Order: sequence, then structure tokens, then C-alpha cells
Amino acid sequence: MLYFFYFVLLLIYNETKGHNQRPIGLQEVFKWKQIEYDFDGVLYNSSTDDISAKKQENVTDADKFFIQYNNVPIGMEVYGDRVFITIPRRRHGIPSTLNYVKKSCDDSPALKPYPDTKSRSKFISVYRPRVDVCGRLWMVDTGHLEVPGERKQIQPPAIVVYDLKTDKQLFRYELKSTDLVNERSSAGLTSITIEVDKKSCNNAYAYINDLATEGMIVFSLKDMDSWRLDHRSFVHDERAMNFTAAGYVINWKDGLFSITLTDPDVNGKRKAFYHPLVSTQEFSINTELLKDKTKFLGHNTYIGERGNNTQSGSHDYHVPSRTIFYANVAQDAILCWNIDTEMTPENVAIVAQDHKKLAYISDLKVIGDEIYVLVNQIPKFIYSRFETEEYNYLIHRYRVFDLILGNSM
Ligand SMILES: *[C@@H]1O[C@H](CO)[C@@H](O)[C@H](O)[C@H]1NC(C)=O
Ligand SMILES: *[C@@H]1O[C@H](CO)[C@@H](O)[C@H](O)[C@H]1NC(C)=O
Ligand SMILES: *[C@@H]1O[C@H](CO)[C@@H](O)[C@H](O)[C@H]1NC(C)=O
Ligand SMILES: *[C@@H]1O[C@H](CO)[C@@H](O)[C@H](O)[C@H]1NC(C)=O
Repeated sequence: MLYFFYFVLLLIYNETKGHNQRPIGLQEVFKWKQIEYDFDGVLYNSSTDDISAKKQENVTDADKFFIQYNNVPIGMEVYGDRVFITIPRRRHGIPSTLNYVKKSCDDSPALKPYPDTKSRSKFISVYRPRVDVCGRLWMVDTGHLEVPGERKQIQPPAIVVYDLKTDKQLFRYELKSTDLVNERSSAGLTSITIEVDKKSCNNAYAYINDLATEGMIVFSLKDMDSWRLDHRSFVHDERAMNFTAAGYVINWKDGLFSITLTDPDVNGKRKAFYHPLVSTQEFSINTELLKDKTKFLGHNTYIGERGNNTQSGSHDYHVPSRTIFYANVAQDAILCWNIDTEMTPENVAIVAQDHKKLAYISDLKVIGDEIYVLVNQIPKFIYSRFETEEYNYLIHRYRVFDLILGNSM
């Protein structure tokens, strides 16, 4: 079975390689030393940084518009020639949380607010937005200002969806109080996974992780309704704590972090694969069971152990190769696992590893036959200090078949 799979892959690979000659391995897309913004031609860069501005010497950080150092990108999505980059407000001086850049020759472009400059204060904190098959951009605005010691809920957490063809907002849905456990929940809503019935864009579900109070929120577009699911598999594993990421020991207790879906099977049913950040286990459930809150409870969703030091953030499924790729923060690596094999450490492979260029993969997305990763070294930001003259934030891409075949041969 496995040999057949690699054989088919090799055929596809040789087929695509001939048409598109590119060097194998990591391709740089963007790299930034520090983030700059372009607000309709007005640039915010190190020259306009409020920290260095003398005139503001007695103003508190909370009053500052732009503190360049505090702008750490965390989420990413790609649509056509646009790359979305989010900067959640976890410190003061972040002028815009939802931004985009155009793919171009400039490898360190200034960020522009999405959809436009005047919307830049509409959102408080957006983490990892996702585009669906209907050309819509989905995101959760946590509404939460997460500055340590000054945490504040500015507006209710909400799902916000844009039409990417018109850049108009389609709707904003405020989560219900019953979707949240306590005042910490909203800051844990760091990803969104969309399931759409290809025949009907209105028949869509969103699955949102809550890593802070360790649950899942399910949203039905057709019913404009949401509900919370709690399950032991959403909770972090104490035994998987204290791993090393980007050179720092991480003692976080983050629960459910990432949810990825397979393509529909012959009956039109999909599987969701998911894991907490602080865990080396993987879990799976048929999404039909997430769509009905009464059915999910009591199910055994454990499918196996990925292995030592496999603590991972985002993961995403590549349909043609039936493979899931993981942002493995504990080894500065990308892991892969073919879903037709048993989930055991022997079947989970490191396909890329780099202690500099993959030091904390904050987001990972399969786009066509490529994998995009956003690397941000965030443990260094939290526990130490960035060198502002080095490239601290990177977006790379890899070809899926390069990764799989590079590893298997
Ligand atoms: C910042 O932007 C201004 C234009 O608004 C430009 O004149 C200046 O050179 C830039 N500074 C840096 C350090 O890039
Ligand atoms: C800032 O505050 C200090 C101490 O209170 C004071 O001496 C100084 O004049 C103030 N500077 C400005 C620009 O207001
Ligand atoms: C993680 O570190 C804490 C504090 O040092 C310790 O109490 C705990 O036992 C450690 N857990 C693991 C799994 O290493
Ligand atoms: C994981 O680590 C433990 C303790 O170091 C070791 O006994 C075990 O063999 C390791 N498992 C794998 C799959 O490498």
C-alpha cells in the first residue's frame, strides 16, 4: 500500500517537475527584520517609531500609536497574489492587526491594513485567518487586548467574514456567552477551520480552537448559530510540558490549537484531525459529530502518539498525497504523516528542520501543492529580546512533493 502510494507520488512529482524547474527545498517568500506599515502612502517605520520619538518622552506606551518592536506577526494566509499577515494586539503600539502585502520583488514589504486603512481599528486581535473554497476570508477577532498586566476585552469576540472578490464584509457574528468559559476564553481563539459544502457556500461550518480554556466552538452559517464543545482531548497533556522551542523551555499550558479537515469520503463525510499544542498525541473525529453537540460527548477520539518532541502548532492536510503537515515547534521542524498509516512515532517523519529558519513556526498552510510557513521566533520575544538587525520574521514555502520524496528516498 505504502509503496504504491510513493510510486504514484513519484509519477506526479516527475510530471510536475518537468514543467516547473525550481530549486528543491526552502524558498524564501518574505523576510522582515522589523515590521513597517504603509497607510495609504504614509509609512510607519523605524524613523516614525514612537519609542524613539523624543516629543513623546512622558507619554505611556498605551498612548503610543506605533512601537515597531512590539509588532510580531503570528498568522498568515494566501489568496492569489495577496498574503495576509496578522499581528494580534499582545503589546501596545500595534496600529493594525489584520494586514496584507502583495507578492512582489520586494522581500520585506510594508504591511497594509485590510480591507483598507480606515478599518484598521475595527479589529482588535486577529490570529490565523483562513480562506474557503468560496473565496471568503474567515477570521476570529478575539476583541481582546492581551497586553500583560493590562488585559482588556475591548469588544465581544466575533467571527468576521469578507468576500475577497469585492473586499466587502459579508457578516460579523458575535460569539455567545455560552461559547466561552470565562474572561480568559476569548484570547484563546487563535485559529479557525472552515468546512464548506462545495455545492452550497451557505452550507458552511467553522471550527474554532480555544487554547486558553481548552475547548472548541462550532459555528453553523446556515443557522447563524454557535455552540461550545468540551472534551478531554482538547486539554493539554501535563506530561508533554517543558519542551524546548526556538531554544527556550516552554512551560505554557495551551490546549486545543489546530484543527484540519480531510476531503469528503464517498459518503460526503470529512474527518477532523486535531491536537492541543502541549501534547504529542493526535485525535480525530468525523465532523458530523461536531455538528451535533449532543453526539460528540463520550466519543473516543484518540488515534495515537506522534512521538517524543512532536509538540506542534498549526497543521494542514494535503489532499493528493493524503498527508498532514505539522508545524513542529519543539524541534524547529515540519513533520508529516500519511493518514492511511497508523498514527505511531515510526510513521511520523521530520521532512524539514532548521534551528534558525524554522525557529518557531507560528502558522503553516497547505496551498495547492505548496506549504507556506510563517516563522517568528516568538519564545525569544517573550523570554529575551530580538536583534532588530537580524531577520526575525520569515515566510517560506516548500513544494509538498520535495518534502515527501526528499524524506522517503
Ligand atoms: C521611513 O519612511 C520615510 C517616508 O515616510 C522615509 O523617508 C524614511 O527614509 C524611512 N526610514 C527608514 C529607516 O526606512
Ligand atoms: C518629563 O517628565 C520629567 C519628570 O517628570 C520632566 O522633568 C520633564 O520635563 C518632562 N519632559 C517633557 C518633554 O514634558
Ligand atoms: C515541568 O516543569 C515544572 C516546573 O519546573 C515541573 O514541576 C514539572 O514536573 C515539569 N513537567 C514535566 C513533564 O517535565
Ligand atoms: C521517547 O523518550 C523516552 C524517554 O527518553 C524513550 O524511552 C523512548 O524510547 C522515546 N520514544 C521514541 C519513539 O523515541
